[in-house]
Amino acid sequence: MTNIQLPDVGVTMVLVANLQASLPDFGRIVDQHGHPAPALRQLGLVHWENGRFDTAARTFEAALSLIPEDPDLWRDLASVYSATDRDEQALAAIRKSLELDPLNAQSWQILASVGDRLDDVETAEDAYRRTIALNPKASAAHLGLGLLLFRKKHYEEALAALRISVEIDPFNGVAQFAVGHLSFITSDFAGCARAFDAAARLTLELDALTRQKRARALTFQAMIEGRVQEALQNYNEIAGEDREDLDIITRDAFSVLSAAGHLEAAAAIGQIRLAEKPDDPVRRYLLDAVLGRSMTSAPTDYIETYFDQFAPQFDSKLTQTLQYNAPRQMAQRVARHRTSFKHMLDLGCGTGLAAAELQPLGATLTGVDISAGMLAEAEKRGGYTELVKAEAVAYLEMASNRFDLVFAADSLIYFGDLQPLLRAAAGALVPGGLFALSIELASGDGFILQPSGRFAHSLAHLKTTATDFHILEALDSNIRLEAGRPVPGLYVLLERR
Ligand SMILES: C[S@@+](CC[C@H](N)C(=O)[O-])C[C@H]1O[C@@H](n2cnc3c(N)ncnc32)[C@H](O)[C@@H]1O
Repeated sequence: MTNIQLPDVGVTMVLVANLQASLPDFGRIVDQHGHPAPALRQLGLVHWENGRFDTAARTFEAALSLIPEDPDLWRDLASVYSATDRDEQALAAIRKSLELDPLNAQSWQILASVGDRLDDVETAEDAYRRTIALNPKASAAHLGLGLLLFRKKHYEEALAALRISVEIDPFNGVAQFAVGHLSFITSDFAGCARAFDAAARLTLELDALTRQKRARALTFQAMIEGRVQEALQNYNEIAGEDREDLDIITRDAFSVLSAAGHLEAAAAIGQIRLAEKPDDPVRRYLLDAVLGRSMTSAPTDYIETYFDQFAPQFDSKLTQTLQYNAPRQMAQRVARHRTSFKHMLDLGCGTGLAAAELQPLGATLTGVDISAGMLAEAEKRGGYTELVKAEAVAYLEMASNRFDLVFAADSLIYFGDLQPLLRAAAGALVPGGLFALSIELASGDGFILQPSGRFAHSLAHLKTTATDFHILEALDSNIRLEAGRPVPGLYVLLERR
């Protein structure tokens, strides 16, 4: 930890003597024992107010050499250090202040801001929370906490904190602006438009991206209220010069509203989109999913078309926006059981996010996927012994006793009934071989096709279909975010009997 050097008391007394000689009022601001520290503090505050931060810091340091146990002086010193970007020293000073007086909300707030600036998320979050515990009306702490949680992608908690901040201080444009963005992420479109309008009234003009988001929010809200055609007709006027292509608006409205559970509105939009392109397998399948039509797996023409289109953006969307980390988590689970496989299969390998995780665990790694676009990305990434374009079950059925590890991250979500796939995987594995897989979790005892077009499975369904396997472990985990909320799932490790 940074050490703060206070001046020698003798040096401070010379300074005090000089000040007494040059400033007529100085001698009057002493405490009842004639101690000059309060006068030095006053002087420091004057320097600080006038922007002379370095001089203010030296004055507070001098005062502290006389009364080093004064928490307020340490806090003042921390503030001026912080104002001159001496964050490490600010941190040391504010910690000292809190050691002496741990119940001062203002000091915790300063620690939080300094921690935030130093990107010390843990310190900042803890300090914001302590500030709020000591002073629930501290709007700046709610705002700081909300923005920090926003960066951590804890969207709902972030929005709750920011809403409190806005309630306490409705005139803070930054807080309103952040509430607008978070409301959009969490599908509160009316709240989003309201907050952006408040931000625009309070601060400068909204930037173009925010204006586009506001136009989308108003349009999506009208759609949720059952006015889909009207919303589309009004869109251009609402968005003005920021308008986007209507095809992009309906595409995103469909996926955002279905993910948020507004199925009637999503279905109405899906029908409009399918009427425009009746042969599009993606539009057809996703509308079927939203309408709740029953199916035993996603059609392969949908998978190919969808992932071929999605491939170039897949990695950034999944790993950054949606916080997807299944390949690493699953490979770590596998490595706890075994680390020396002969032949590994990455089933539904996609762009190859699992390659780097699996490579150290075995001699050869085959990647199989039905989408040429995804395979092209996997090829670029490297790490596979071979990449094969094939349908998963068909490939497994041809690969008798070939693998000692089958790895399927986020691929089983495109299968409904798991029995054919598990049977084929058992055939492709040697006895004792491992099958690592992830599923999205459904309640009940079967599987369901969700409006997202992905299937969710119950553990009961997995147990009744995995009869060729022992279940080594099934770990609860959030697979990714959807509409700003975590999607619950399982990482499962099976052993071939
Ligand atoms: C969500 S991505 C996951 C990709 C990769 N496993 C990962 O974790 O990043 C699902 C992948 O499974 C592939 N897939 C889905 N159904 C398939 C099937 N029946 N046969 C082969 N590949 C399939 C898709 O093409 C897509 O690349």
